[in-house]
Amino acid sequence: MKTVLITGCSSGFGLETARYFLDRDWKVVATMRSPREDLLPRSERLRVLALDVTNPDSIRQAVEAAGPIDVLVNNAGIGMLGALEGTSMETAREVFETNTLGTIAVTQAVLPQFRQRKAGVIVNVTSSVTLKPLPLLSVYTASKAAVTAFTESLALELQQFNVRMRLVIPGRASETRFVENAQPRMQSGIPEAYAEFAQSVFARMGQSSAGTRALDLAAAVWRAANDPSCPVRIAAGADAVALAESCLTQSPTSNRFAAPSALETVA
Ligand SMILES: NC(=O)c1ccc[n+]([C@@H]2O[C@H](COP(=O)([O-])OP(=O)(O)OC[C@H]3O[C@@H](n4cnc5c(N)ncnc54)[C@H](OP(=O)(O)O)[C@@H]3O)[C@@H](O)[C@H]2O)c1
Repeated sequence: MKTVLITGCSSGFGLETARYFLDRDWKVVATMRSPREDLLPRSERLRVLALDVTNPDSIRQAVEAAGPIDVLVNNAGIGMLGALEGTSMETAREVFETNTLGTIAVTQAVLPQFRQRKAGVIVNVTSSVTLKPLPLLSVYTASKAAVTAFTESLALELQQFNVRMRLVIPGRASETRFVENAQPRMQSGIPEAYAEFAQSVFARMGQSSAGTRALDLAAAVWRAANDPSCPVRIAAGADAVALAESCLTQSPTSNRFAAPSALETVA
C-alpha cells in the first residue's frame, strides 16, 4: 500500500486530493497548519499532521512523524491580486515564502528517503497563470513560475535516482477558499492610478466562469502519482486544458521570443 503526503489539506484542492487518494486505498498523510480530524472520513489509512511549509521545524517534525512516503504533493499556497505598486515587499515575501520556498523546503526534506530508496514522486501544484500572463497577478505568477523552473531543473538531477517530478497546473476554481484566504493580502493592492484599469480587469474576471473543479485537480495529481509515462506538465480543469492546448498550437511565428537576428540587432 502506497503513502502520499499532501500539504495544505485544510480546504480546497488539498482536502479533495486527500479524499481522492483515501477513496482509492492509499495511506494518506494529510497535513495542515492547524490540524483538524473532522474534515476527512475516519480511516486507519489516514493521519493528520501539523505542517506549516514556512517553518523549518514544522517541516522536519512532520516528515519525521510521517515516516516513509511514496509521493509528496506540494499543494499549500496563498494568493494575492493587486498592482505591484500597491504590493508591499512584506506581502511579496510572504507569497514567495509559502508558494516557492515552502515547496523547495518540503521537497528538500523528503529527498533523502526518495534517493536512498531509488523511488518517489514529487507533484508540485502551480497555476494556469504560468501559461498565460494576466494583469494584477505579477507577484503570485512569479512565485508559481519559479516552481515550474525549479521542478523542471530538479527533474533532470533526480532522474538518476528514479525520482519523478511532476507539475499539476490548475485553472481558476471557485469552490476552494483561495480568494477568501487571499483577502488580507489585497487590502491596499490597487492604488488610485490603477483603479480604472483594475475595474476593467475585475469586470472581465466576473464574466469568465471558473473552469477547474477540485476533483479535476485531484484526478490530475492521481495521474501524476501513478502514471510514470505522463508528461511533466499536467493541466487540470477545462480552462487550464484549453490554455495548455492553445500554448501548444501557438504559431512558430508568435512574437513571444525574438528571432536570433533581432537579438543581434539589439546587441
Ligand atoms: N483556487 C484557484 O483558483 C487556484 C488556481 C490555480 C492554482 N491554485 C493553487 O492551488 C493550491 C491550493 O489552493 P486552493 O485553491 O485549494 O486554496 P485554499 O482553499 O485557500 O487552500 C490552500 C491551502 O494551503 C494552506 N496553506 C496556506 N499557507 C500555508 C502554509 N504556510 N503552510 C501550510 N499550508 C498552508 C491553507 O491552509 P490554512 O487553512 O492554514 O490557511 C489551505 O489548506 C495553491 O497552491 C494555489 O496557489 C489555486
